[in-house]
Amino acid sequence: MFNIKSKFSKSDKLFLSNKSRLIGQIEIPGDKSISQRALIIGLISNGNSKIQNILESEDVIHTMRAVILLGGKVSIKNDILEIRGVGLGNITSPPKPVYMGNSGTGTRLLLGVVAGSNATVTFYGDDSLTNRPMSRVIIPLKKMGAKFVSHEEGRLPLTVIGARRKGIILPIEYTTPMPSAQVKSSLILASLTARGTSKIIEKSRTRNNTEEMLINCGVKIISRYTKNKRYLTQLEGMQYINSFDVRVPGDPSTAAFLAVAAIITKNSKIELKNIYYDKFRLKIFFVLKKMGAKIDIKKNNRGNCDITVESSNLKNLIIPAKDSSALIDEYPILSIAASSANGKMIMKGLKELRFKESDRLTAIFKGLSQSGIKTELIKDTLIIQGRKNIRGGNIINASNDHRMAMSFNILSLITKSPIIIKGNSSIRTSFPLFFDSLSILGVNIKRDEN
Ligand code: S3P
Repeated sequence: MFNIKSKFSKSDKLFLSNKSRLIGQIEIPGDKSISQRALIIGLISNGNSKIQNILESEDVIHTMRAVILLGGKVSIKNDILEIRGVGLGNITSPPKPVYMGNSGTGTRLLLGVVAGSNATVTFYGDDSLTNRPMSRVIIPLKKMGAKFVSHEEGRLPLTVIGARRKGIILPIEYTTPMPSAQVKSSLILASLTARGTSKIIEKSRTRNNTEEMLINCGVKIISRYTKNKRYLTQLEGMQYINSFDVRVPGDPSTAAFLAVAAIITKNSKIELKNIYYDKFRLKIFFVLKKMGAKIDIKKNNRGNCDITVESSNLKNLIIPAKDSSALIDEYPILSIAASSANGKMIMKGLKELRFKESDRLTAIFKGLSQSGIKTELIKDTLIIQGRKNIRGGNIINASNDHRMAMSFNILSLITKSPIIIKGNSSIRTSFPLFFDSLSILGVNIKRDEN
């Protein structure tokens, strides 16, 4: 485990040929959000937890190493990862700074865990993570009693001194200024050690993987819409966290890349197997269906779903801002689908895209424009005029952003001249077998000799 061998390890000069179609079936690797939470919740639970089908990617490896440095005991037997937790609030101060690589989820969630403990931990990351705002968790975690020291305000490298070092962690009632499952999860994890009731209020709902997993461990959490249409997450502190066994389902966000590749190429038909069956996380598939994609979602006997996708003619739509939280990781690949569809795609409320592994709003706008697609960016609305015969022949710098790299590779399947991506190695953070999976499905992968 964690020794994934890709046939395409020297990926930087690879591109996807426009003479490809996709045929066959493929198992989708484990969900990144669930894999990281399984490690983090395993750390603060009591006893041994077992994780099957964990995603073997760089983000997950960095979170696993961090969890070990914080006191978790990890062993791997027969493809099952076992973690012995330290119990709530008992994490240890590591002897050295903790490197989080590219992982925003790992970092923000662990900041919450440390904030609620008596440990002192310094986190740092790669260039992309160093540029991402941490103030969104620092501000509320400070209100709970944690202290932060950083080189530049609200950025890594960052030292967090847990609130219980010299006092107690206070419960919090907090309305998040932006829809963010990472912020909500960080606050939930910190609230677990507080004395009293915490309430986290969101203007729009975000993914609930943290709550689901904690409930599975015996923690009581209330989640509901309030009368004024806010989304409330409420929990008492000092609850016992049981150990758990989980089989991580396939990642819908990963599946979306392969799905769009099949939709936009001619004579393709693929089956994507064992994907997490969750309406919120599957939103991209419902949107693609609405655009006219031939997609069939079937629940399987593992409680997951298998999704069949075929070549389709798409028509563009207006995607309202209220959908942005459920589609947040899918806008890059949705933009690729829109580029080949009929009509104008109008995607509203995309502000949060600016704070991802790169400024994705600018990156999509510039990347599509350079590839020969008429694109407009008006504040946080992106307008894409779909067309046939896309020029391509350009270079996209996707350094440190896996989803941008994967998306523009897929656009190259339908451009007249190939699109060359700088930064294909970033794909290892979430989908190390991206090129291998496409190759298994019949995509012609070529190397740029220039
Ligand atoms: C994630 C939440 C989202 C998403 C990220 C994973 C998570 O980020 O973009 O890839 O696992 O909680 P935000 O919560 O910051 O929007």
